[in-house]
Amino acid sequence: MNTEQTLRTFTDFYRERGHHLITGSSLLPPDSDPVLFTTSGMHPLTPYLLGRPHPHGRRLLNVQRCLRTTDLDEIGDLTHLTVFEMLGSWSLGDYGHSQSLRWGYELLRDGFGIPHDRLHVTVFGGDDQVGPDTESLCTWRELGVPVEPTGEDNWWSNGPVGPCGPDSEIFVWTGDIPPQGTPTTDPRWVEIWNHVHLRYQRHEDGSLEPLRQPGIDTGMGLERLLTVLQGHNSVYETDLFEPWTRLLPPLWGLDEPSMRLVHDHLRSSIVVLGDGVRPSNTGRGYVLRRLLRRLLTTLRRDGSPRTLSDLPQELIEHTLDHFHQPSGTGPIRDELLEEERRFTKLLERGRRVLSRSEFQRPLTDEDFGYLHDTHGLPRDLVAGLLTTR
Ligand code: ALA
Repeated sequence: MNTEQTLRTFTDFYRERGHHLITGSSLLPPDSDPVLFTTSGMHPLTPYLLGRPHPHGRRLLNVQRCLRTTDLDEIGDLTHLTVFEMLGSWSLGDYGHSQSLRWGYELLRDGFGIPHDRLHVTVFGGDDQVGPDTESLCTWRELGVPVEPTGEDNWWSNGPVGPCGPDSEIFVWTGDIPPQGTPTTDPRWVEIWNHVHLRYQRHEDGSLEPLRQPGIDTGMGLERLLTVLQGHNSVYETDLFEPWTRLLPPLWGLDEPSMRLVHDHLRSSIVVLGDGVRPSNTGRGYVLRRLLRRLLTTLRRDGSPRTLSDLPQELIEHTLDHFHQPSGTGPIRDELLEEERRFTKLLERGRRVLSRSEFQRPLTDEDFGYLHDTHGLPRDLVAGLLTTR
């Protein structure tokens, strides 16, 4: 199943069950929101999950782009992405958790064709504040799907305060031999879908208050789902990334992990630029700048003259099209090249300063502080320059 068929299967399934497809899926949360970027499909819906009536009713669905920088060091492996898309469904005080799990099971088995015996789930086993999630446990037992109860792994929250609750995660077996072990004991069980029962509001003091209108919040990472459905080991092998995997390797000839990092960070930067963010030294702009500088550092690691000027237009176009961003490739390309120029200047300054006699020895924390405060040279960049001199 390719990306388009997968998206259609998901949206048709929930539409047929009375869900309204929300549009407008920017990475930028509303101004009132304390986070810089949307990190989960439920994010733009927080006020509605807490009880405010939604103009489109009580059953919603969406394909929401998200950005997470918590796993930045993992980027370059086979599965992590900075920008990804989350397929989400919500019940705002309408149907309950059991119904959500049943539909989830039906869609995976009948819609996506995942065999019953390749599924395993986990449920919340209880802690000192909340009892075990027996409703989910019973539902899965009735469906005949093996269940593993866990502790905090099956508690979902969007931050230290706000809506939260027990969740049930659905795993698919990706091994070449018949399934064995459980999700917590064998990594070949890959989590693809999380169904959260948002039953509580967490307050500053850590206490939990039951929500008057408990809701359901589900999230399934599109790229991981595609990887499983298309039988790959790596998200980068799915059809979603086709033009990237065709055009990047011959262009820059990087080793595989570096190629994946450059691919991920470039694509993410294009999406962030497409949502109107520009590189800067604070807030969202700084996140973007960090992504761009990490990829530029990787491109030039061995002193190579690789440059974004060679980036094929098709990759920018494909990304903006996929995310329905109307900004046009020209302005995005200009921003990328401008940031590359700024970075090049910074590198030149860095090399000049580091060539001084006082820096011909191992640098101390104070040196790093001085280079940053006086010359605007970030620690990462200095460390990179030191390894190549
Ligand atoms: N909000 C839940 C998650 O991000 C579905 O896993």
